Amino acid sequence: MSQSKRIAVIPGDGIGPEVIREAVGVLERLRETHGVELELTHFDWGADKFLKEGVSLPEGALSMLSKEFDAILAGAFGDPRVPSNQHAEDILLGMRRGLDLYINLRPVRLLDARLTPLRDRERADIDFVVFRENTEGAYCGAGGFLKKGTVDEIATQEELNTRRGVERIIQAAFDYARRHNRRRVTMADKSNVQRFGGDLWQRVFKEVAARFEGIEANHQYVDAMAMFMVQDPSQYEVIVANNLFGDILTDLGAALQGGLGLAASGNIHPGRTSLFEPVHGSAPPLAGKNVANPVGSILTAAMMLEYLGFDQASEAIETAVAGAIADKETTRDLGGSLSTTEAGEAIRRRI
Ligand code: NAD
Ligand code: IPM
Ligand code: MN
Repeated sequence: MSQSKRIAVIPGDGIGPEVIREAVGVLERLRETHGVELELTHFDWGADKFLKEGVSLPEGALSMLSKEFDAILAGAFGDPRVPSNQHAEDILLGMRRGLDLYINLRPVRLLDARLTPLRDRERADIDFVVFRENTEGAYCGAGGFLKKGTVDEIATQEELNTRRGVERIIQAAFDYARRHNRRRVTMADKSNVQRFGGDLWQRVFKEVAARFEGIEANHQYVDAMAMFMVQDPSQYEVIVANNLFGDILTDLGAALQGGLGLAASGNIHPGRTSLFEPVHGSAPPLAGKNVANPVGSILTAAMMLEYLGFDQASEAIETAVAGAIADKETTRDLGGSLSTTEAGEAIRRRI
């Protein structure tokens, strides 16, 4: 591919800028080695700007992103100086919802058997993807207070499940399974308690599954899945879940592959400007110390390149990351002694 792609880079808060710098360094390296032509434009959206100017997601940002960019590479949002988390919600959830990025694709893949906290597991035992619904569910912001601040206070927090929203994420999970020769899709829900939303997910899951001959449609309650993911992760190929369950399960998935420092994600609407970000947050205790693991962001850049059609460059990143890990050239969270910048360099050198 020789056509230049336009990337909006939003490093964000905390360790975001430190890890995104390394991911950008990898993209620059790929220009030399693989002819990946990217036009990067940086945006300073995050806590600093919010505190100085009162601006979180600037006006017109969503239409600008969708018109002028092919993809977005973001770091993390969240800062102890903004206890309400308002700016993070505006920026991150604003982009997910506003750009209708309904698929949050989160791979869980063990790159080296040493990294998992589970005993006696090999790489092949932990290799699945999670399709997290990304635009509705408990993240719809619906609810409210009655008698706030009194002993009789009531807080409601609603969950939104639309037929269309549920169907498109389940369909995406099965489509992925078919394209990648995966044989089983497992849906996690809590339909034994959540009678309405759960019922809708159950019905739609069966309906969609019927269109995919040869792919097993499997169901687990999400609490049981949390247990089985630890006891027997090898049973999973593709998981589909609502927004909140997908959020929780993918931090657990990150732990299985070695920690949050490694986990990558894509917020995707096929064919549209999509957003790629590591699964981890701004990790305030690590910020400014040059110790954060950049691998999650670097593998996120690989996902972005694959989305943009640069398959070979994407694979080159994954091979380089696996090589650096095999040679123990890693940050402290993985038992190594490298700084963020050194760990990024160790990967760039291998490309
Ligand atoms: P977090 O993911 O920031 O960090 C939790 C812990 O995981 C860290 O203390 C650290 O031990 C480890 N960790 C995370 N990233 C790492 C990395 N790259 N290298 C090494 N270790 C790493 O979660 P949190 O502490 O619950 O949240 C901190 C802030 O980030 C909050 O404001 C939260 O809302 C926000 N957050 C943002 C995003 C996002 O922007 N996508 C995601 C999660 C959390
Ligand atoms: C994630 C994060 C976000 C989420 C927060 C920061 C809003 O935890 O990307 O997983 O809950 O989706
Ligand atoms: Mn999360």
